[in-house]
Order: sequence, then structure tokens, then C-alpha cells
Amino acid sequence: MTGPVLSVEDLRVAIGKNPVVDGVSFSVAAGEIVSLVGESGCGKSMTAFSIMGLLPPVASVTGGSVILSGRQVNGLDAKALKALRGNEMSMIFQEPVASLNPLMPVGRQIAESLLVHRKLGRGEAQRQAIAMLEEVGIPEPALRAKQYPFELSGGMCQRVMIAMALITRPRLLIADEPTTALDVTIQAQILELMKRLRTETGTAILLITHDMGVVADIADRVAVMYAGRIAENAAVDDIFREQRHPYTRMLLSTIPRLDGSDAKSFLPTIKGTVPDIGHWPEGCRFSTRCPLMDGECRKTPLLVPAGADRDAACWHQDLIGGLI
Ligand SMILES: Nc1ncnc2c1ncn2[C@@H]1O[C@H](COP(=O)(O)OP(=O)(O)OP(=O)(O)O)[C@@H](O)[C@H]1O
Ligand SMILES: [Mg+2]
Repeated sequence: MTGPVLSVEDLRVAIGKNPVVDGVSFSVAAGEIVSLVGESGCGKSMTAFSIMGLLPPVASVTGGSVILSGRQVNGLDAKALKALRGNEMSMIFQEPVASLNPLMPVGRQIAESLLVHRKLGRGEAQRQAIAMLEEVGIPEPALRAKQYPFELSGGMCQRVMIAMALITRPRLLIADEPTTALDVTIQAQILELMKRLRTETGTAILLITHDMGVVADIADRVAVMYAGRIAENAAVDDIFREQRHPYTRMLLSTIPRLDGSDAKSFLPTIKGTVPDIGHWPEGCRFSTRCPLMDGECRKTPLLVPAGADRDAACWHQDLIGGLI
């Protein structure tokens, strides 16, 4: 099939009257890893939950579409969504322990999707679950499979969640900070597993992370989010080489530059945090923190082409190179 596995078009989500996701568009092709980055509170998890049809009751989709393999999934009824989740699309949650069933051995929880969606027998499903536990780096997987979540460490529960998400080899995997709680060796192993999944299975991966090192290591494209909107969207090599939005420049200045120059000098000029929902400024939402702000920024910048195969939403794209 041609076309992207996931296409998000002008997605809008609100909590009460306040928008939290405000016209977000991006797509993820088969075998592609797109990273969604941005500071805390900018709407990354809300975007992910909307795709999965798992928004908390306080939030609702107010516009736009989520299209999975050519089929619109927002607006589907609960039964149809359930048939897709844990099957064609899976998510690794930011808070894994809360997402596991405390009353069921972890092996059975992993095997469950194979029983439901793949109609495998219990023995075969359990065998595959144990193999998956091994793949995510859990020692003595056959033994661990019989244990309950409370008998495992936080890092192990995280890996069980990852095993649950990967067991059906989904078309789309959303990973929301999947490796934050894990030590670096396990983190590297999980990232390798995701790379293998996209190569061998063609899974499209949307990876939400704060870690620009992880982005550089694994992502093909990056979508930078700020206060409910996409600020910039580009291939990973392009965005690390040159930024077309001052916010991206700020995010990337928090990691050491490979060329040895000191990009940190830009950081002191941008302070503060993402404004809370309901308190977003008029026009460009980054303007209150931006060293390039002028009268023009009172108008909302649209996401427009900013070079070959990249977009940015800034009135002063051409001045960013001059920022140090
Ligand atoms: N259950 C909720 N009730 C009310 N507001 C919420 C709820 N969940 C999130 N929000 C608000 O929605 C906004 C976007 O939250 P979201 O969780 O999508 O941010 P995020 O980009 O994933 O941040 P982080 O990097 O911290 O995970 C935030 O301002 C947050 O306070
Ligand atoms: Mg989040």
C-alpha cells in the first residue's frame, strides 16, 4: 500500500474551552521513525492519546483527522478502536506501571493480544510472550513471565510494557518517552529493538522524547512542538545542521555540538517555560521567549516551506542563522 501509515491532519484537541493541540499535522511512513519533541506541557502526549483514541475524559478532539493506513480512526466507535489498539497500533506509555494489570502475571498480559487479535492458542501465545520478554532484555524470561507487576522493578515493568506493545508487530508504534526510566544499556537495547522492528516489520514509529541524543541516534524526521502547534518539521540531519525556528535552536542548544563550537551561548537569551494552556500569547506563541520577537510576531506564523522537504512556522526564519 502506498501513502503514509499515519497521517495526522490539522488535529485539534481541547480541555474544556482551552485548546491543548491546535492544528497539528504530520505523517509517518512505513519503516520511518518520526520524533516528536518539545518541552513539558506542549501537547505531545495529548497528540499521542488522540491518535490512539485514549484521551482522558477531560479532553476531546475538536477537529482534524487521524488516518491510519488510509482509514480515518478518530470518530470510530469504542469497539472498532479496540480492534485496532494493541493490534495495528500500539503505544508504550510514559507511565508504564499504571498501565499494567496488577492482578495478572506479566507473561499472560503480553500473550493477551495474541489470543484476542491473532487467535493463537494459549501455549503458542505464551511461548511468543516469553520470547518477546527475552528480546526486551529480561533475564530468565520464562520465570519472569509467571510473576506479577509488583514483583518486578520499575525498569522491568517498562520493558514488559514495551514487550506488550511490540508483540503483535504493529503497523504503528507510538513510544512516549519509552526509555527514560531505563539505564543506558537497556535503553540502547530497546532502541536497537525499535530499529529492527522498523526494518524487519516496516513498523512506522512515532517516538516522543526529551533526549536529543536519542533523536540523533534513531529518528529519520523530527517534528518540534511548542504550545500545541508544530514549530518545525524536518529530516533529522537537516534539523541538526540548521534550524529554521528559534525554538528548535534553543532545544538543540542543550546538547553539546559535534563541531565543538559552543551553542550554549544562545541559551541564556531564552528563559521561562511553555505557557500554560489558556495563557498562550496572541500570534506566535513562542514570541514571549524569543530573541527575534518584533511587531510582525503578533500575527500567527503559518507552517510554511523552509527549504527542501522541511517546514517552519517563524516570521524570521532567515535570521536564525545569525543567532549565537
Ligand atoms: N488530565 C488532564 N487534565 C487537565 N489538563 C491536562 C491533563 N493532562 C494534560 N493536561 C494539560 O495539557 C497540556 C499538554 O499536556 P501533555 O501531557 O500533552 O504534555 P507533554 O508535551 O506530553 O508534556 P511532558 O513532556 O511533560 O510529558 C499541559 O498543559 C497539561 O497540563
Ligand atoms: Mg507527555
